Amino acid sequence: MGILETERLIIRKFFRDDWEDLYEYLSKESVVKYEPYDVYTEEQCKEEAINRSKEEEFWAVCLKETNKLIGNLYFYNGGPKECSTWEIGYVFNPIYHGKGYAIESVRKILDYGFKELNARRVVAMCNPKNTASWKLLESLNMRREGHLRKNIFFKYDKEGNPIWNDTYEYGILKDEWL
Ligand SMILES: CC(C)(COP(=O)(O)OP(=O)(O)OC[C@H]1O[C@@H](n2cnc3c(N)ncnc32)[C@H](O)[C@@H]1OP(=O)(O)O)[C@@H](O)C(=O)NCCC(=O)NCCS
Repeated sequence: MGILETERLIIRKFFRDDWEDLYEYLSKESVVKYEPYDVYTEEQCKEEAINRSKEEEFWAVCLKETNKLIGNLYFYNGGPKECSTWEIGYVFNPIYHGKGYAIESVRKILDYGFKELNARRVVAMCNPKNTASWKLLESLNMRREGHLRKNIFFKYDKEGNPIWNDTYEYGILKDEWL
């Protein structure tokens, strides 16, 4: 896992002392609304930063100018290795939304994946209600390949029933990217 650099950002592995910056956004309801988890406590963020520092799939996105950690990427070859299909995910601190940081970092890691990790295909999943997320994917020319109806739930309603969500599936192939 190397260090990636863009015009404004450094994209690097997590360190255990990143927990405070992680807590700044994972503790917000608006941030985890479409994620498969609830808001994190300080304790959970300490553990999460340690876990992420040992894993390859989470990347910390930091501002070059200040070193502030403003969000994270998830990039993982989770299926059979010979399929070379990587999944991309991203979560950013809302203070830094709307400035193009998420797009800039996702563009960089896609490029790294296709050119350096020999990814053949990259996919992403998101809730159709998460407009900011699928707009980001479409601005990177990822193609909407599926709309799954009420296929997944992450949370329960007050009566304890699963809240079923639709999923948009996006994909892009190496030749399309290059
Ligand atoms: C999904 C998420 C990362 C998108 O963040 P974002 O702030 O919309 O993305 P960016 O930082 O790339 O900003 C893009 C916006 O900045 C604008 N922008 C401003 N300066 C820009 C620049 N220099 N370059 C590119 N875009 C710029 C773009 O026009 C775009 O605005 P628009 O959405 O009105 O078209 C963010 O909403 C998030 O973290 N949500 C919570 C977690 C989540 O739901 N993750 C996805 C789960 S599937």
